[in-house]
Amino acid sequence: MTTRAVVKGVGHYLPERVVPNSELETLVDTTDEWIKTRSGIERRHYAAEGQTTSDLGIRAAQAALADAGLLASDIDAIIVATSTADLTFPSAATMIQNGLGMTNGFAFDVQAVCAGFVYALTTANALIVSGQVNRVLVIGAETFSRLMDWKDRSTCVLFGDGAGALILAAEQGDGTTADRGILATDIHSDGRFRDLLYVDGGTSTGTTGHLRMEGKEVFRHAVEKLAETAHASLAKIGLTGGDVDWIVPHQANIRIIEATAKRMQVPMDHVVVTVQDHGNTSAASIPLALSVGRARGQIKPGDLLVTEAIGGGLAWGSVVLRW
Ligand code: UT7
Repeated sequence: MTTRAVVKGVGHYLPERVVPNSELETLVDTTDEWIKTRSGIERRHYAAEGQTTSDLGIRAAQAALADAGLLASDIDAIIVATSTADLTFPSAATMIQNGLGMTNGFAFDVQAVCAGFVYALTTANALIVSGQVNRVLVIGAETFSRLMDWKDRSTCVLFGDGAGALILAAEQGDGTTADRGILATDIHSDGRFRDLLYVDGGTSTGTTGHLRMEGKEVFRHAVEKLAETAHASLAKIGLTGGDVDWIVPHQANIRIIEATAKRMQVPMDHVVVTVQDHGNTSAASIPLALSVGRARGQIKPGDLLVTEAIGGGLAWGSVVLRW
């Protein structure tokens, strides 16, 4: 028998305000056509004034708990992937824990920017398979609209706000790739590339700062590293792209998503795509895509999924899981 971290519920929350590309045309020198053709993004959601990352995370967590038929008190740990916690500390995770009325267990944030949800899944899996906890609420929640430089057209049109959540629980499998749950993980970082994508604020400046990105360079790394990590995690369990039912990629750019699918030899009708509706929501993009993909009827019980993501650091990785 092998302990597996199995998906028990999924949910998401998107702020009410939808911002189409046409609205950004009035703000910076851009066009709907440029944004659509260069990134695939058509619209994104922005949090309301005063609405924080933990507010979004609480709503997504409540949706996932309802989906699983569980109460917050049934959860042993909360891991939140975010780079936009409400405050420097305490963690967004403890704020969400409090918002859910949960006084048991423990909660902490994982900060690996756009790769955060892959890192959080890897951490949750390790806690579960080592027998330390039974049920983990894994959340990706972001308010990247707060980090935008509204004078920088090369970044401000790309990002959005949102949150997604997944509940993982310990279950016994037979140790084969037919088991449900997380089957393999693969994570990497390389701090030599810190200047390609960063926020120019923090304790060193005393400001929140703005997101800065060398888009072309990040694009180049993404196309190379995402297929590489997806292949690596599949290879750990003797599988290839041909075994995959759904790629659930980080939603940064449709051209990166297509190039990665091509390298993995997975057709685009086996890729969950939400970038047109959400923009890049950083660590929230994969759980949002899992929740939307399930709601659309794309992801079904027993399907083999690969999630992959890359972001600031650079940090990147992938997770193979059977839904
Ligand atoms: O989630 C974390 C990981 N992040 C990513 O994966 C993002 C990776 N990068 C990308 O997705 C793409 O590089 C971008 C979408 C950011 C940019 O696409 P690109 O094809 O690499 O365009 P570019 O940066 O080379 O810019 C092409 C042109 C430039 O003009 P010139 O120099 O050719 O005259 C830009 O100034 O497009 C111009 N441009 C714009 N034009 C209209 C840049 N931003 C805009 C804009 N509207 N918003």
